[in-house]
Amino acid sequence: MTIPQQDKGKLIERAMSVRAQAYAPYSNYHVGASLLTNTGEIFDGVNVENASYTVGICAERNAVFQAVAHNQRSFRAIAVATDNGGSPCGACRQVLSEFGLDIEVITLDSQGNIIMETTVAKLLPQAFGPEHLTQE
Ligand code: THU
Repeated sequence: MTIPQQDKGKLIERAMSVRAQAYAPYSNYHVGASLLTNTGEIFDGVNVENASYTVGICAERNAVFQAVAHNQRSFRAIAVATDNGGSPCGACRQVLSEFGLDIEVITLDSQGNIIMETTVAKLLPQAFGPEHLTQE
C-alpha cells in the first residue's frame, strides 16, 4: 500500500529540511530522517556524531527514538535525506524492523530526488524480531 502523495511530499520536505541540523563534523555526511506515523504525525531525526566516534547515532534511529518518546509506535514510512541517496545502515534497519517490516523507506539525494523506494522487509530479509523471543 503506497502513501498518499500529499503525505509523501510533506515527509520528503521534512527530511530534506531537517538534514540541515545534522551534526556531522567528522564524516561530513549529513543525514536527515523523517518518520510518518499511522496517525499522520511526523518525527524527525538527524545524525549526531561525536569526537569519540563510535558513540554517534544515525538519523533514522534518532527519528524512531523521538517518536517512541512521544508514545508513537506505529509507523507508515520513513524518508531519509543524504548527499547521495544512501541506504539506511544495518543497525537502523534492525531498529525499524522492531516496529514493522512493512514500513516504507524512501531515500533522497541532496536535490530531493527519490533514489530508492522500498520496505524494511526488503532491506532486512529474515529479520530477527520480537517473535523469536517468545517463551514456550
Ligand atoms: N548515517 C546515518 O545517519 N544513517 C545511515 O543509515 C547511515 C549512516 C550517519 C552515521 C554517520 O554520522 C555518518 O552518516 C557517516 O557514516
